Amino acid sequence: NTRVLKVDPSSIHFSPTAHIDGSLPTITDPETKKNLMEAANIIRETDNIVGFPTETVYGLGGSSLNDNSVLNIYKAKNRPSDNPLISHVSSIDLLNRRIFGNKHKTDVLENIPKIYHPLIEKLWPGPLTVLLPVPPNSNLSKLTTADQPTFAVRIPSNPVARALIALSDTPIAAPSANQSTRPSPTLASHVYHDLNGRIPIILDGGACNVGVESTVVDGLVSPPLLLRPGGFTWEQIRSMGGSQWSTCKVENKKTIAEGEKVRTPGMKYRHYSPRAKVILFVPERSEMPTEERLQYVKNIIKEESKGIQKYALLSTLTFPSNLVEEQNCICEQLGSSRKEIQTNLFAYLRKLDEEEKVDLIFVEGIEDENEGLAVMNRLRKAASHNIVPF
Ligand code: TXA
Ligand code: MG
Repeated sequence: NTRVLKVDPSSIHFSPTAHIDGSLPTITDPETKKNLMEAANIIRETDNIVGFPTETVYGLGGSSLNDNSVLNIYKAKNRPSDNPLISHVSSIDLLNRRIFGNKHKTDVLENIPKIYHPLIEKLWPGPLTVLLPVPPNSNLSKLTTADQPTFAVRIPSNPVARALIALSDTPIAAPSANQSTRPSPTLASHVYHDLNGRIPIILDGGACNVGVESTVVDGLVSPPLLLRPGGFTWEQIRSMGGSQWSTCKVENKKTIAEGEKVRTPGMKYRHYSPRAKVILFVPERSEMPTEERLQYVKNIIKEESKGIQKYALLSTLTFPSNLVEEQNCICEQLGSSRKEIQTNLFAYLRKLDEEEKVDLIFVEGIEDENEGLAVMNRLRKAASHNIVPF
């Protein structure tokens, strides 16, 4: 069975330049240090994989350089192996040495195309993933990249994730630590629920504060593309990336052609789905009087919940708390700001599914701006075709 090992993120301290020069953290809590060392040894020395917290969601990590570790990742979460993985590094030094195989460093950013420099200078460590060309004679496993000419990489800001990578001195391939198609995990207990018995250990570093996955950008095409909305908003990418990113477009291909490689998830695969059916209300009728809009929503809920034993309503910015007053409806507010809604999203979907065991979840959607873009991207996939404009 899987062991859950506690780690205390506040006991891990990095120097301000550690994400560039790769200097190791000091860890003041002995138990945290012992547990991190154990997990780091698994990553460095074995084909095995571990669950660990990042600032976005929990990851399921193994060496990016080792075919067997990557195979074990795909196997543990039942993930199709043509959907490539993100390599997580703790520093640009580690990226240069362990992926590019550079022995001597001259310019630390030499392996990173210039277009990314303003973004990574401002947003790393953090929830930003960039695509880089796979170098000739790269150390990366072809299974990590699903044999694409590019690979995805990020430096997470969560101290537990950074320390795990730094101590293992290995780039860590890590998708979210959920069973494929399920909502991503933001607590160690979510990982345990999905993967108990399939992995040796989970590092429990508490709740993930971003709550959705990293933003994936492709700066190797022109204009640059936002492939997956995530922890940094499109607005932040466009404003912080310099002039080239001000024209950044959001990739919105809904389907992919036969034989085409997977560029972002959900184009091809089911995603973020609770067991319960999700019906998503999308705000599109702001010209209508509020009373009328809410009455319309109430009618839909009444109609769709007929004969359902237990259901839930997750409200966000406009539904009043007394919109539905039925005994068999669990009414909760996801949050009162976009940021809070983003942080809570996956945990609420899981709670309703795994603990409350409801059969149907109504969710009040929000506008596609700022954090709304990432939130609605996940909710639209969770709801699949069950989308109701209001
Ligand atoms: O926040 C995150 O990114 C989390 C934590 C654990 O770091 N990880 C995560 O990994 O969300 P995953 O595997 O669920 O999502 C990786 C995304 C997928 O959309 C994948 O298609 C895309 O990155 N990706 C990876 N390599 C790619 C490549 N070479 N070209 C295009 N997309 C790529
Ligand atoms: Mg995922």
